[in-house]
Amino acid sequence: MKKLLTLLFILNIIFPGANGIFVPANSPDRKQTMNSPQDILIPVGTKNTDLIFRVNGSDGRLYQAYFGMKLANTENLMGSGGQDHLAYATFGTDNLFEPAVRMTHNDGNPSLDLVYLSNNVEKLSDNVIVTNILLKDPVYAIEVTLHFKSYIAEDVIEQWVEIVQKETNPVTLFNYASSMMHFDADKYWLTQFHGDWAEEMKIQESELTSGIKILDTKLGTRAHMYQTPVFFLSLNNKSDENTGELIAGTLGWSGNFRFLFEVDEKGSLRVISGINPFASEYSVQPGKTFKTPSFIFTYSNHGKGLASRNLHHWAENYGIMDGNKPRLTLLNNWETTYFDFNEKKLTSLLDDTKKMGLDLFLLDDGWFANKYPRNDDRAGLGDWQENKAKLPDGLGYLVKEADSRGVKFGIWIEPEMVNPKSELYENHPDWILKLPNRQETYFRNQLVLDLTNPKVQEFVYNIVDGMLTRFPGIGFIKWDCNRMMTSAYSVYLKDKQSNLYVDYVNSLYNILDRLRKKYPHFPIMLCSGGGGRVDYGALRYFTEFWPSDDTDPLERVYIQWGYSFFFPSFAVCNHVTSWGKQSLKFKTDVAMMGKMGYDIPVNELSEKELKFSQEAIANYKRLCDVIWHGDLYRLISPYDENRAVLMYVNSSKSKAVLFSYTLNSRYNQTFNPVKMQGLDPLKTYTIKEINTVPGGRQSQIAETERSYTGEYLMKIGLNIGNGTPLTSNVLEITE
Ligand code: DGJ
Repeated sequence: MKKLLTLLFILNIIFPGANGIFVPANSPDRKQTMNSPQDILIPVGTKNTDLIFRVNGSDGRLYQAYFGMKLANTENLMGSGGQDHLAYATFGTDNLFEPAVRMTHNDGNPSLDLVYLSNNVEKLSDNVIVTNILLKDPVYAIEVTLHFKSYIAEDVIEQWVEIVQKETNPVTLFNYASSMMHFDADKYWLTQFHGDWAEEMKIQESELTSGIKILDTKLGTRAHMYQTPVFFLSLNNKSDENTGELIAGTLGWSGNFRFLFEVDEKGSLRVISGINPFASEYSVQPGKTFKTPSFIFTYSNHGKGLASRNLHHWAENYGIMDGNKPRLTLLNNWETTYFDFNEKKLTSLLDDTKKMGLDLFLLDDGWFANKYPRNDDRAGLGDWQENKAKLPDGLGYLVKEADSRGVKFGIWIEPEMVNPKSELYENHPDWILKLPNRQETYFRNQLVLDLTNPKVQEFVYNIVDGMLTRFPGIGFIKWDCNRMMTSAYSVYLKDKQSNLYVDYVNSLYNILDRLRKKYPHFPIMLCSGGGGRVDYGALRYFTEFWPSDDTDPLERVYIQWGYSFFFPSFAVCNHVTSWGKQSLKFKTDVAMMGKMGYDIPVNELSEKELKFSQEAIANYKRLCDVIWHGDLYRLISPYDENRAVLMYVNSSKSKAVLFSYTLNSRYNQTFNPVKMQGLDPLKTYTIKEINTVPGGRQSQIAETERSYTGEYLMKIGLNIGNGTPLTSNVLEITE
């Protein structure tokens, strides 16, 4: 076997076109040089960046030779050139640092070695190219393929790995990273996003020192609450919005994740990203493939702003379900009624939806269960039949009433969960994750269903499919998930309990795959007790997400600012609610910088407030295309000043929308003019303040529209906002 592999390897070098072994150049302007016949270069490129691997002719292993700005010439990466960092380091032979992959074979041997076998390229479209690099253990029947999907125009690369086990007995995987990357810089600056329920996405930046730094979570049913699966890594110097060299990375996985940063004795950094291997040694049966989720990353040498725009455009075109399709504005009843509603109250909310000019009414938690009615969060979860006391005429009646008013009807579900006080719990105790010999532990009075069990998958699928089949008029779903795993044990998995964290998420994806096959474009909001599941693994199936249960608009400025680094505005659901004592205008302006919705008692609005809201919604509908799909420029950070200013500019630079929020202010504080970005210096723009309230104009923007050149707006700027705390301005900027 070993001899055969060596022969294959030599053949591949002599005949690089044969056997799918081919050295592709993603960019036609790339100069390929092969002056060192024993090495093979494998470039993975986008429009502006190069990630280049080198097969070392002498040991047959794959190394990362380069990652950064596009190279005009790769000649010197051949031979001894380039770096000597193993592209996907194994454990058990000569690696002394953290491995990307570690396994034990059935004979007890704990080692793995990977040599290059072949590579090929699949062109999925003019913009999307997949490079596959096949590695193989010379001794054991283990194959590892590194996959790189390059999104050329967006400068984004998605990497995942497939580990194929062809041994005769099961093997155990202990580490199975999606990606391993190496950097050689003077210093490394890590920006992480951490928080808790209702205080998501707080930004922290620190220098990496020698040794290991880990960002991870162990929550099971969701990626985060305490750490979000995203990071910036700045090289040499800290980066800001427009300067600095960095990568932005995120993992497409809705469960435990881990980013590991290890600075070695020479000052080199390895970054290992993937599912958190903690308590998750995974047993792989003969003939089976273990597929990791995708690590998604972009490189920028113009600061964090460009990295965010790259990810936003990638998300719009590829990363988020129907990213380039319109979204629905909505009225939600959660904070207005909580569990206390009936048909009459709901039909009046349908009227309010119409009156406000919103597209959809979203009925939240509390509409279901009869034996144990869902009148608070202690009962009923799992029993998905309309509650007869609250909805005697069923959901069909509400769908019909919504339709007759010309608004859509949406509904809340939390299909992965169960209250112990429910018929589901009584009938199917073995469908629930709980230890057989210890007390159940609750979070929000509920337990998690065992999605690894195919019968439970069928049940969850049928909750959604059954409802949409019975009521085809339902136009929207909010899919919630309000707890993490504790004291978890799967009856179904038997002696494979350490597969649970991985299998739970993959089972969820199985259900969602099935649903998306039948309902490919149905809008679904992803919610997990706030933003617990905001990740690009889940967002393949969801059109938008609920970023936080904290809807106080002052807090939201920071929370939404944090999300904006990695997620596009069209997916971030921001609702105007009763949280916070700020003006309706401030609340509205904050909600408008994303996907706007309402969750307020509309009948309590004064006539003036109602008119203001109707106009704001009309403004939003007129401008949402720019806000959703324009380029985002974060101009002044709330982390730097007592205000936050950002703008969205459309691709032809003919229209922009600027949001300015004065937060708290100090005595006699004055603000410098805001210098805009992203406009055309040669174009002339008119500036119009919108969302104004009578007598409430806060900015020094002229009452009537006034024109400025793009150059003036970007080099000299405008005074916006007058320093009064908790005031805001929205400017419409038109060529
Ligand atoms: C948590 C969500 O984040 C809220 O918006 C709301 O839907 C509640 N769950 C309902 O229980």
